[in-house]
Amino acid sequence: MCGIVGYAGNRNARNVIVTGLRRLEYRGYDSAGIAELNSDNSAISLTRAVGKISDLATRLEQHPEESTPATLAVGHTRWATHGAPTENNAHPHMSQNGAFALVHNGIIENYLTLRQHLIQQGFSFNSETDSEVIVHLIEQCYEGDLTRAVAAALEQLQGTYGIAVISSHHPDTIVAARKGSPIVVGVCPTETIVASDISAIVQHTNQVIFLNDGDIVTATGEDIDIVSAANVPVARETTHIDWDVGEIEKGGYEHFMLKEIHEQPEAISNATRGRLLPKDGTTKLSGMQMTPADLAHIDRLLIAACGTSLYAGMVGEYLFEDFADISTEVHQAAEFRYRNPIIERDTCLIAISQSGETADTLAAVREAIRKGADVLGICNVVGSTIAREAGHGVYLHAGPEIGVASTKAFTCQVAVLALMAITAGRTRRLSLNAGTAMVREIERLPDLVRAVITQEEKIKQIAKNYAKAEDFFFLGRGYMYPAALEGALKLKEISYIHAEGYHAAELKHGPIALLCPEVPVVGLVPDIQGKDKTISNLQECAARKSPVIAIATEGDKEIEQHCNDVIYVPRCAEFLSPIPVVVAEQIFAYYIARERGCAIDQPRNLAKSVTVE
Ligand code: AGP
Repeated sequence: MCGIVGYAGNRNARNVIVTGLRRLEYRGYDSAGIAELNSDNSAISLTRAVGKISDLATRLEQHPEESTPATLAVGHTRWATHGAPTENNAHPHMSQNGAFALVHNGIIENYLTLRQHLIQQGFSFNSETDSEVIVHLIEQCYEGDLTRAVAAALEQLQGTYGIAVISSHHPDTIVAARKGSPIVVGVCPTETIVASDISAIVQHTNQVIFLNDGDIVTATGEDIDIVSAANVPVARETTHIDWDVGEIEKGGYEHFMLKEIHEQPEAISNATRGRLLPKDGTTKLSGMQMTPADLAHIDRLLIAACGTSLYAGMVGEYLFEDFADISTEVHQAAEFRYRNPIIERDTCLIAISQSGETADTLAAVREAIRKGADVLGICNVVGSTIAREAGHGVYLHAGPEIGVASTKAFTCQVAVLALMAITAGRTRRLSLNAGTAMVREIERLPDLVRAVITQEEKIKQIAKNYAKAEDFFFLGRGYMYPAALEGALKLKEISYIHAEGYHAAELKHGPIALLCPEVPVVGLVPDIQGKDKTISNLQECAARKSPVIAIATEGDKEIEQHCNDVIYVPRCAEFLSPIPVVVAEQIFAYYIARERGCAIDQPRNLAKSVTVE
């Protein structure tokens, strides 16, 4: 997802924009740019560069600031979708008359038609992008009121947008709007920052306003006015964000991903803090806004998510069926939105999304609501679109997850799903003693994860032995099947090694043909149900000369005769076993990717939040 930062106030706008864009670097991008309104308010100056923010900074040094720096600007980091990463395709885009500059996230589906109309009306284009049509439409619609010109332009668009616009006609005003791509407004006494992500705002203020789809905000340093798509003034609540800049910095770690792996004990503590009621054998999840009767009436549960969140949802399927007897189906969100999901009266959908902005998951939420389902969100970013449109749910409180590869979000999602399953189970057949025992197990999670992290050096040494492999299998069954899928995804996305997560019992139905000494197999065999059967599968792999790396429960010496290497994790209850196992897989994948010299925090082709289809 691209990054947007806009500023209107009384400070040096260039500094605010460049610093803000650096905070958004983790999202992945291939060009960057800034448009500033010169202090004499006569003309907008545009600076863009292919590559990184550092390349943009070099360009800016070639355009030294005026004696009195600009105090109005917009900036952008672009991940190429329409048109290659070139300077002309980089944002901001300028209007033909040079009076307007715009940055855009999202995809304009009818841009070719609009482009042709504009060309017929005398406009010329400098880029191949869909975004450029917007700034020409604004110029065409402008009759003295910037907000109205933006609204008139947006009405012609089909698709998604998060935009920020400045104009030399309005030297102290920034206009921003959203539809399907987030825009957040940072509220300060004498300045306003708009951004696509709170990471670019928290160093200036913790008070933010999340725009809704259709909203248009018009802001100066002092005033903020928001109108809805119907041009009706609206008051959006101000949210306090309890993140600080330190949490967004790497804190001495080589990569955000490693920092976030190490943050997991604390993140899980935060995700469960104040939510565990061991004496009552249940939990307190006020955000669900559901009474025990509501929970008892859930007849069918659907879970919709993507990527790592989908695999957490697969663990949730086991949890709700094992402990709450609720028939549960997990759906890849893109499938859900385009099939004919059967929603009955007491069907509930849980949407799981770290960012709360994943387009396919958001679309699944909207489809479920349209069909009458009650929708709960499990999100990490407070005020994110999915969290707001679901209406109720549970925040992870895991802190900002900057690394593109999701780590602490997964373990906190599984922990929260376990809390929800216990809560629902206790309104059905889960006894007080059983509930208490499960809550006590959840209380141990931070220490369990710390115990895995103490194995880091050993895991690193094992990982180095396999860093040259080009193919991997990860095998598991039961609770270990989603863990196998997640382990494979971690390795794929940061090391670029082709890795497949597979059900252990499925391998012999074809994929075993791929096994050979060059294809290592990671076998997930903690001491839970199904372990022995998976060990048999690993023996089949070893017989085909595949190297076998087992992830097993500490103290299990018998496993050593069936594998080349063993990574030990602490003993824990079966329903929580994906958490320590996946932490071990995260560390394993991290050190293989590090050995291969990969861009771990910003893997090629990836973005932190996939806000387009
Ligand atoms: C996970 O490591 C990936 N970066 C990706 O699969 C991610 O989990 C997926 O895009 C879903 O994101 P979300 O949780 O923000 O919806």
